[in-house]
Amino acid sequence: MSLPSRLDALKDLPLSTFRAKLWPHNDSCFKISGPTDDESWRLQLRTSEGLSDAEFTSCFSLVRETSAADYKASPDGWHPVKKRKEMRLRDMRYILLGRASLRQPEGGPCLPVDGFLSFMLTWEDGIEVIYCYEIHLDEHVRGRGMGKRLMGCLEEVGRKAEVKKAMLTVFKKNKAAVKFYERLGYGEDEFSPRPKKLRNGVVKELDYLIMSKSLISGTKNREKERQRKRKAAG
Ligand SMILES: CC(C)(COP(=O)(O)OP(=O)(O)OC[C@H]1O[C@@H](n2cnc3c(N)ncnc32)[C@H](O)[C@@H]1OP(=O)(O)O)[C@@H](O)C(=O)NCCC(=O)NCCS
Repeated sequence: MSLPSRLDALKDLPLSTFRAKLWPHNDSCFKISGPTDDESWRLQLRTSEGLSDAEFTSCFSLVRETSAADYKASPDGWHPVKKRKEMRLRDMRYILLGRASLRQPEGGPCLPVDGFLSFMLTWEDGIEVIYCYEIHLDEHVRGRGMGKRLMGCLEEVGRKAEVKKAMLTVFKKNKAAVKFYERLGYGEDEFSPRPKKLRNGVVKELDYLIMSKSLISGTKNREKERQRKRKAAG
């Protein structure tokens, strides 16, 4: 029997150990304030199994409200059963956003869920990555830096896990999301599928884009590149 890989071992960690090793501690509770608003918000890390039915339903409703129309307009369509199954995948982790005042203990219920991000440590094209599966905020919390904070947590988990990049898939027509990711330093991934030229010469554009951001610092990047070249040269 082969030994689990480094990433498998991280994926299999119980949530408490996962949190201790990979979670940016300072961000488990944060406060936002503004001229007409002064609220405390909390981010909670969960496994897919650890979501209560009500929390899961709240997350699923956010996906349906913000993205079902884009799925329906795509060739693959909107399949709620398939989406629910994906959202319950064993290795999926969730970052839930909710008002701190309405819930107290870490791990206590987070209802309603005002926004969430789901992610998985995984491999893409043989590369260790952290994949952002979903990020959805309720309308009333958009445009206040929450999305950036959630993505910051994802990237921090990825850096601590020492994966190479953060990745995600976005519908091209969701221009607001594309701009948001670009603002955070994401660009089209090298493996994002290119438009296909059909036999009749027609170019078939895909309706989605795979975007990514390197999580390796400049020095580490150069060192990894040197190692790769040494390996390739034998
Ligand atoms: C996309 C989404 C997650 C962004 O979260 P958000 O909290 O609204 O974004 P933030 O306030 O954190 O913005 C972060 C940065 O992106 C910029 N940004 C956000 N939306 C933007 C837009 N539509 N155009 C240009 N820049 C944008 C902000 O100006 C900000 O820049 P700054 O750091 O220089 O101030 C959120 O709007 C959302 O949930 N949308 C609906 C669901 C969705 O489309 N999810 C993506 C599925 S792939």
